[in-house]
Amino acid sequence: MKTIRRLVLAAGALAATLASINVHANAQYYPTRPIVMIVPFAAGGPVDVMARTVAEGMSRFIGKPVVIENVVGAGGTTGATRAMRAAADGYTIIAGHMGTHAAAVALYPNLAYDPVKDFEPIGLLASTSVLVLARKDLPARNLQEFVRYLKDNSAKVNMAHAGIGSSSHVTCLPLNQAIGVKPTMIPFSGTGPAMNALVAGQVDYMCDVITNAAPQVQGGTIKAYAIAMPKRNPALPDVPTAAEAGMPSFDPTSWVAVFAPKGTAGAIRDKLSVALDKALDDPAVRKRLTELGNDIPESGQRGARPLGDLVRSESARWSAALSKAASE
Ligand code: MLT
Repeated sequence: MKTIRRLVLAAGALAATLASINVHANAQYYPTRPIVMIVPFAAGGPVDVMARTVAEGMSRFIGKPVVIENVVGAGGTTGATRAMRAAADGYTIIAGHMGTHAAAVALYPNLAYDPVKDFEPIGLLASTSVLVLARKDLPARNLQEFVRYLKDNSAKVNMAHAGIGSSSHVTCLPLNQAIGVKPTMIPFSGTGPAMNALVAGQVDYMCDVITNAAPQVQGGTIKAYAIAMPKRNPALPDVPTAAEAGMPSFDPTSWVAVFAPKGTAGAIRDKLSVALDKALDDPAVRKRLTELGNDIPESGQRGARPLGDLVRSESARWSAALSKAASE
């Protein structure tokens, strides 16, 4: 009996050693095939544009294509759940954001994942400012008139967003609350299609990030009443800050970051973080992200640790803000 037990234990130890050698070998040669980066919103929207821009840069540095797969639904949580359940081998990663990896926790009691426990942070991709936007023919000429318009038309105004817990949803909740309006909510699979509806005048307003808003505001196809930033953004120098426009309390920010499923080997995570870091320093990537008004993280904000800290602090911040909003 003792001999059999010893043999079983020895076989177990050998299997563990071989598995560890395999993980190290896989990490050493990683990547040997394309990497899928899940975008949890529709193509053409801000997360998609940012992810595609940086994925192209990462591909050059990591030596294999980083291809985008849009997995939409439930305010981005469908795509995040898919990424959480993917094999932790570095071949599926996700461009998550302040909704999927922070705010959604407070709004989905049965969320399948925990952004802190179920993901490995790779690095922050960009921070991005939020604007109050409206269809071009909405009569209000500035934020004060917009507030008045919403109050006067509260029974019929509608607001576009990208699903419960998305950035465009949660950043507009405090605005609506401050104004005291409950618009009809029109959900989309991302703010790419929501923006199309705003440009077409099918919806009245939305809160969206500058990445998506800048080209439309520059082209005069929509109105921008305020940007939630301490100072104006060079990409949209004519848009007043929320404080200048008379609503200093409107101060949300958004961010997009890269994550891998929990358990992805450290050596693979490091290769991904380095590729992201190099992509963010690539002149073509920087130009594209900057002309859309995004803030590229400084060196101290890059990599796994600062992103892990950001996810923890943002989850706590949004939980508090959204439970306060629900109780009022
Ligand atoms: C998108 O990429 O479609 C948006 O960032 C979604 C959102 O509002 O969170």
